[in-house]
Amino acid sequence: MLDTATNRPELPPEIARRRTFAIISHPDAGKTTLTEKFLLYGGAIQMAGQVRAKGESRRTRSDFMQMEKDRGISVSASAMSFDYNDFRFNLVDTPGHSDFSEDTYRTLTAVDAAVMVIDGAKGVESQTQKLFEVCRMRDLPILTFCNKMDRESRDIFEIIDEIQENLAIDVTPASWPIGVGRDFIGCYDILRDRLELMDRADRNKIAESIEIKGLDDPNLAKHVPEHLLEQLLEELEMARELLPPLDHQALLDGTLTPIWFGSAINSFGVKELMDGIAKYGPEPQIQTAQPRKISPEETKVSGFVFKVQANMDPKHRDRVAFVRMASGHFKRGMKLTHVRTKKPMAISNPVLFLASDRELADEAWAGDIIGIPNHGQLRIGDTLTEGEALRVSGIPSFAPELLQGVRAGDPLKSKHLEKALMQFAEEGAAKVFKPSIGSGFIVGVVGQLQFEVLASRIEMEYGLPVRFEQSQFTSARWVAGDKTALDKFINVNKQHIAYDHDGDVVYLTRLQWDIDRVERDYPDLKLTATKEMM
Ligand code: G4P
Repeated sequence: MLDTATNRPELPPEIARRRTFAIISHPDAGKTTLTEKFLLYGGAIQMAGQVRAKGESRRTRSDFMQMEKDRGISVSASAMSFDYNDFRFNLVDTPGHSDFSEDTYRTLTAVDAAVMVIDGAKGVESQTQKLFEVCRMRDLPILTFCNKMDRESRDIFEIIDEIQENLAIDVTPASWPIGVGRDFIGCYDILRDRLELMDRADRNKIAESIEIKGLDDPNLAKHVPEHLLEQLLEELEMARELLPPLDHQALLDGTLTPIWFGSAINSFGVKELMDGIAKYGPEPQIQTAQPRKISPEETKVSGFVFKVQANMDPKHRDRVAFVRMASGHFKRGMKLTHVRTKKPMAISNPVLFLASDRELADEAWAGDIIGIPNHGQLRIGDTLTEGEALRVSGIPSFAPELLQGVRAGDPLKSKHLEKALMQFAEEGAAKVFKPSIGSGFIVGVVGQLQFEVLASRIEMEYGLPVRFEQSQFTSARWVAGDKTALDKFINVNKQHIAYDHDGDVVYLTRLQWDIDRVERDYPDLKLTATKEMM
């Protein structure tokens, strides 16, 4: 029997044991270190240090980007699967930099929960807050890990208060730290009445667990020095009075987060967090789709593309669509319907992303993430089913906030540039607009760093040096409406009109005033800042 606080007993055991989640954090809080320890306990890697290791093994599980290595930032999301006790964890990596919020948003459509890592000395930082807000839009359950407790940290009540205040979510302590900084010796596991003691001498050693029968158990005093024990009992008493108990439903609704304290680098508190994800983290959830929702236990297979990554392996120019399985039991070789084009697709080489490698996926269940190599047929937002015309909804494309013109260093290579740009547009890495007048392209992104990433990728993957230059436009809006009204609008505003990679009409301008004017003068047209990917 799985040790889980399930509220969905109808799920087949293979689906019920899956936990698909992402880690959200501010850079430097310890996401990489925590991921590494997850993989270590999941048996996916043999020793700490492999996640950071450079070279071939690193590249197979990450995204091949020079920039990522140079700058130490994670540019695009990747997925990793591993087993932990009776559970299958699917960890989807979210890009850490604030410039990649759109990609992050889409990644978060593929998970059922998020682990929020905060630095005990810093509390809730700006990027944590932003990512949290994205999770909030989807009511994702959040489990919190307060890291770096081996160093001087802020007062625990203050940290909890900050989470409650800034993020408007209730916090319940799952564990309680004993001592701070140099005096930190471990945690009291509130959920299981255990004492967990940290071994400072061996960073990879799993903490010693001591069963405690309630807070008046004399065993406590044997392991905790008197002054720390007094403080612990006092704080636990206060926590009990001030903070809510663990309410599983509130956790699933995303209104309450349990918090664990630990030190990822010392492997401390990580197993408790993993046990928490297994027990309380939700099983694969129902997906919102049109014209009806999809339940994971449905026998028919369905899944949706939340990310496309091109050129993952520079030696083989491939393109991989990351698919989150929404229902059923997929088997390799199955023929699925590509709902957007209504065409059948034989899925013969699906891949499963393991920590240090990818391997052929012979099967996958609802909740899993598989990669489907393809030649561009699969786009972000696409749904695959066993025939029914279902479309998973809620995977948006945002209007870019920064626009720049782009030119190939060598004017004779413009066709190559167009091909590269279209590729990135389909990947969702940038918006590419072809103005209706003149040559050249306008590229739109959400954050400045994306221009650099693109320039670096175009050069690396296509051998094309490019130049980004200032554009006369600063805003883009998709325009939709009745054909006659649209044609009239296009005719009158030719110098502001461009087409995105799907051929949809986009209005480019510098002024919000222009957008307001169009909305007033063309009541039959709809200007939008987001377009649902399909
Ligand atoms: P990120 O992915 O969230 O950006 O964070 P990452 O894991 O890379 O950790 C950021 C820094 O914090 C690293 O130090 C890492 O070793 C350190 N760290 C992670 N967990 C803990 C912890 O529990 N306690 C302490 N004291 N430090 C921790 P660095 O010096 O930037 O890198 P490195 O030289 O250690 O690789």
